Amino acid sequence: MENFNFCVGTRILFGKGQEEKLPELLRPYGNKVLLTYGGGSIKRTGLYDRIKSLLHEFEIFELGGIEPNPRIESVYAGAEICKEEDIDVILAVGGGSTIDCSKAIAAAAYYEGDAWDLILHPDWIEKALPICTVLTLSATGSEMDNGGVITNLKTKEKLGFGNPLLLPKASVLNPENTFTVPASQTAAGSADIMSHILEVYFDTRRAAVPDRISEGLLKTVIQYAPIAVREPENYEARAELMWTSSLAINGICSTGKDCAWSCHPMEHELSAYYDITHGVGLAILTPRWMRYILNEHTVEKFAEYAKNVWGIAEKADLFETANAGIDATEEFLKSLEIPMTLSEVGITEEHFTEMAEHAVIFGGLSEAYVPLKAEDVVNIYRMCM
Ligand code: NZQ
Ligand code: ZN
Repeated sequence: MENFNFCVGTRILFGKGQEEKLPELLRPYGNKVLLTYGGGSIKRTGLYDRIKSLLHEFEIFELGGIEPNPRIESVYAGAEICKEEDIDVILAVGGGSTIDCSKAIAAAAYYEGDAWDLILHPDWIEKALPICTVLTLSATGSEMDNGGVITNLKTKEKLGFGNPLLLPKASVLNPENTFTVPASQTAAGSADIMSHILEVYFDTRRAAVPDRISEGLLKTVIQYAPIAVREPENYEARAELMWTSSLAINGICSTGKDCAWSCHPMEHELSAYYDITHGVGLAILTPRWMRYILNEHTVEKFAEYAKNVWGIAEKADLFETANAGIDATEEFLKSLEIPMTLSEVGITEEHFTEMAEHAVIFGGLSEAYVPLKAEDVVNIYRMCM
């Protein structure tokens, strides 16, 4: 196990009715709150009204309409409000897109240049507004990590950024707030959660503690995602997925590990060019990436995955066991009714080469579990057609 530095300072308020604690959570930061949200789901569900009424003693400013795959223009708009109104704290209510955008706004509020600079150079962030979140979709883990992803449509870039100053101070995780998430987003979110775990589970460094935690979290998604898709108001299923989403990417699964991620950089190119749902892109890529990198060096780890996560009995041939685990992964994602080819989501081969080149540069794929060159990425994209 490699040395590591693990500290997650986000207070989690988990369970029914936890929004009621928002006034006491926000009070220490001041009176002026920027309430951020997406395209309107929180208005349709009644959460917006509930929060406004709970915060009646605060001065509330709003930035709504944050897009899935949030755009840099929304960051500009939010930063302007923060500067003009001297905002004290940001309350992000929504999924990963709203929370990610709020993190960028929190940093841009103290930056005089173009906020895109901070996405390109997150180490330039010296100060940020405090952020609290109310999560409405279990997927990205943005509620308990210090990163985000912002899209610049003009340059066709979708880039991750991160800085410890952007870690939410507190997050309200009320599973009931996810009852209205449609089946397709529940499925995509579950694929995203699995991918966050798999990205660090497959690592050249061996570390039993995070791996056993990872296997338990993966089994939790495998058990509860189909229930949440079938029965959207099943509290237990929604609760298990919600807590898993936070634990998947808050750093606990990657303690003592170090490789660059593989599927996420490849997916970010797909959503940058085609604005597809992040979790769908990951679901399509993951089994193909697994098949592509299965070789005599990785087969043992894949066989371990097959046995410990999918309960596959060890076969005479290690490759047979490993392949059975990959088949099970693909079948599971299919069973959630996620489109499983790039053609189904309207992607053609047209931009494969440039997307692959970007993924290698921005995603550091040469440092991945199995290092990937642009031609490997093109091959994997082709396997997804
Ligand atoms: O915009 P609204 O109207 O709120 O609707 C959203 C949106 O259309 C809807 N939704 C959310 N909660 C709902 C709901 N609909 C009904 N009921 C609810 N309770 O779901 C749609 C998708 O929302 P979005 O926030 O875009 O989804 P997600 O949470 O999957 O976030 C995706 C973004 O996060 C980035 C992705 O790349 C993508 O841009 N990621 C962020 C990460 C991080 N911060 O660590 C890591 C991830 O790997 C990921 O890259
Ligand atoms: Zn993700």
